[in-house]
Parts: sequence; C-alpha cells; structure tokens
Amino acid sequence: MKVCVIGTGYVGLVTGVCLSHIGHHVICVDNNEEKVKLMKSGQSPIFEPGLSGLMKNCSASGLLEFSSDLAAGVKHGEILFIAVGTPALPTGESDTRYVEAVAKGIGSHLDENYKVIVNKSTVPIGSGDWVKMIVLDGVKERQQTGDSCDLENKIIANFDVVSNPEFLREGAAVFDTFNPDRIVLGSNSEKAIALMQQLYQPLVERTFGDNPSLPPVPVVVTDLNSAEMIKYAANAFLATKISFINEVANICDRVGADVIQVAEGIGLDSRIGSKFLQAGLGWGGSCFPKDVSALIHTADDYNYETELLKSAVNVNKRQRFIIIEKLQNELKILKGKVVGLLGLTFKPDTDDMRDAPSLNIIKELNRLGAKVKAYDPIISSQTGMSQALSDVIIETNPEMLADGCDALILVTDWQQFLKLDYPKMGKLMNNCLIIDGRNFLDKQSLQKAGFRYVGIGH
Ligand SMILES: NC(=O)c1ccc[n+]([C@@H]2O[C@H](COP(=O)([O-])OP(=O)(O)OC[C@H]3O[C@@H](n4cnc5c(N)ncnc54)[C@H](O)[C@@H]3O)[C@@H](O)[C@H]2O)c1
Repeated sequence: MKVCVIGTGYVGLVTGVCLSHIGHHVICVDNNEEKVKLMKSGQSPIFEPGLSGLMKNCSASGLLEFSSDLAAGVKHGEILFIAVGTPALPTGESDTRYVEAVAKGIGSHLDENYKVIVNKSTVPIGSGDWVKMIVLDGVKERQQTGDSCDLENKIIANFDVVSNPEFLREGAAVFDTFNPDRIVLGSNSEKAIALMQQLYQPLVERTFGDNPSLPPVPVVVTDLNSAEMIKYAANAFLATKISFINEVANICDRVGADVIQVAEGIGLDSRIGSKFLQAGLGWGGSCFPKDVSALIHTADDYNYETELLKSAVNVNKRQRFIIIEKLQNELKILKGKVVGLLGLTFKPDTDDMRDAPSLNIIKELNRLGAKVKAYDPIISSQTGMSQALSDVIIETNPEMLADGCDALILVTDWQQFLKLDYPKMGKLMNNCLIIDGRNFLDKQSLQKAGFRYVGIGH
C-alpha cells in the first residue's frame, strides 16, 4: 500500500521504516530539512537499536523515501500518518499545534482520491473530530485561493480519520513495532478500518515478528474517543504502577524490608504481574509525564478531579529528590563535593533526554554547591551538547567519571554498567559511595569492591 508518514521522530521514523520493511511503499515527510538531508544520506537522526540497518535496506529496496515536500507525500499516500510531537504546555495541556499545522497542510493538498488520515501522535481525547475539522479548514483555504467548490465537495466525502495510538517503547521500538501486544484502531468509518487492517495484516499474522507461532496480534476496533483514551489510560496506569512500587520502596527503607523481594512476591500474583514493579528514581521521558498531565488536564476540563493520578505525579516528583536526600544522609554537606552520574538518558538504549530525571538531579546538585560529572554510553559520544547539559561535565569513560568523585549515582540502567571495573573505579574516587537509583547493580560485589552501596528500599 502507499503510505505517507508525517513527522520522523521516534514514532514516525520507526513506523515508516517498519511499514516499508513489511512491503508498503512509504514516503516519510519532515519539515526539518537537516533531518531529511541526513535520512536521505542513509543516516538515522535518532539512536534506536536495529533502526539504522533496516532503514538502509528499505531505502535500497526503493520502498522507503524521505522528503520535506508535504504535497508530494499527501499525493502519494492512500494512508497518511500524523506522527508529530505533542509536548506538554507549561499548563500541563497537550500542545497540539504541530498536529494542527500538519492537518491543515494535508487539507490544502488533498485531491479527489480517498485517503485515510491516521492520528499516530498521542492527542487529547476528541482530537479525531478536531483533526477532521482542521483538514476541512485547509480545504476551504485552498478554495478561497481559487480551487473549485466541486473539488471541495469531493474531498469532504473522500477522507476519514482513524486514531491508531502508538505503544512502542524507546530503546525497543523496532522490536515492539514487529511484535505488538495489540493494535488499536478507532474510527466511525468501516472503510477506513478495513484499509488499516489490510495495512497491518503482515504484523497481525506475525509474519515479521520474533515468534510466528504466537496467535495473531489482537486488533481492538473502537470509536475515535475510546482509542484516544486507551493510549492515555495505558500510560497513566503504567506510571501509577511505578509510583506505587516507589511508595512501597520508601516504606521498605523505613521498616527494613527489601523492595526487590517484595516486588517479586507481589509480581508473581497473576492479577498484578511483575512488569513495571522496579523501584527507583521514578519515571520520565517524552511520554509518561506529558501524557499523565494531559489526562489530568482533560479530566479537569470536564470537572473531574483525578486524585489518584495527581498523587502518582507527586510521588514521582518527590522520588527524583530522594536520591539527593540519600546523598545528604551519607555525605552531609554537598557543597564542594564531586558527584558522578552513571547515565543521563531517561532509560537505557535511547538518546532521548526529554524530561530525564538526570536533569532534575543535576540542577539540584548544582544548587546545593556540588560539582556534577556524568558518563552516558550515548550522550558522552555525541558532539554538540544541548543547553540542558551545560552545567554538567561530560566524561568520555567511566574511569574518568570516577576520578575524584565523592559519590557515584546510577541514574540509567544501561546494561554496560553491570560490567564496569568497579574495583578500579573505586580506587580513583575520594570516597567509595554508590547510590543505585535503579536497584540495578550487584550490591554484594560492589560491597566486596569496597563500596558503600545505597539502593532505593533495597
Ligand atoms: N517517543 C515515544 O516513545 C512515543 C511512544 C508512543 C507515542 N508517542 C507519541 O507520538 C508522537 C510523536 O512522538 P516522537 O517522540 O516521535 O516525537 P519527536 O519529537 O521525536 O518527532 C516529531 C517529528 O515531527 C516533525 N515535525 C514537527 N512538525 C512538523 C510538520 N509540520 N511537518 C512535518 N514534520 C513535522 C519534527 O521535525 C520531528 O522530527 C507524540 O504525540 C508522542 O506522544 C511517542
């Protein structure tokens, strides 16, 4: 099928590449010329395991193209994905201006051929109908510039909007796209749903998944609002589950229980499940914080106060600073101390720094007068640091990080950090203290290497 994906970030690029890999002819459109140039040269603008190789193969096969020309993309695609960012506004609401710009742009380039416009971006509940309205605004604007009324009428009858929320995890985005737990399709148009089912058929039948013997991927077909709500409810649930175990971890710290054993004990209950029960310094990234706050905001708009979700957010905010409290307990005065962060990204296997807990920790440590250094397998190898990292010294290897430190804090659970030469690093430190913000490292072997180990409820 002919597909156009508009927005080539973590979601759009992975979606475009994977859809072309399963045989569709995809044009990925982005209004960032630099990005388009990079992608045309065969390079991925983001770090995502498995993506670069797949992108090169698909480009070579001719089924994957990159462009900054929205008109060409709209003309090409019978299915048009909107996959631009929907970051949070300072009020907590979702900033839908990029979706709006794309919807209007689509409207101004639609022709008489039937198109399915797919909201892949996470958009506030009710956005399906709103996107339809904006597309029609785009059509009307074009009419004012001279196109015939007849064309407008054909176009009005000739597109449908589908909500197809994305559930991929950064760091495992390619795997998740080929092995989804479910595919959600929300629309009031049977024709649009049928086309989307045809598009996803190879994924549903697990032709490209890691385990073809599994039953077909469930496809959940709903109305537009319910599909949009499924995305917010899923993220809000996962974020709340993490805040829950963090609250339990903080109680464990006080009563002398071990949250790792507690999580194992409760996670084996099939009603609870063991995933998302890892206590630590809290959730972050480009999705959970903004999606939970957008849902709280939507509920507020409809006169409902989300007490549980607000508490999940508050627990999470506090959790980032529990690390600092633990450091103060150990070192007392932080002014003049050197603190090394192991990891900067919000989770391993990504280069995404959006709303990463490390940013709050760096800011607070600086405020308290500590000198902050950091080593991250991806960020340390990048050239041109972002403004957000201007008050941290980026080291290029773990030994340089340890050198002269009064404490290390494990912020991101990169697998590489399990295998560092901690005895050697300890010898380079002023004081052998490690705060394990993810309960990730081997406590016993660190203690053997002479470290004082402090975990979260562990
Ligand atoms: N990142 C994730 O893990 C994830 C997971 C599920 C859902 N989502 C949702 O998917 C959406 C996209 O997220 P992302 O992380 O991929 O965003 P991103 O910021 O990484 O990418 C957005 C892309 O859209 C492009 N863009 C912006 N305006 C444009 C325009 N007018 N025309 C063409 N391109 C334009 C930007 O240049 C950028 O490349 C968001 O709504 C997000 O909530 C993200």
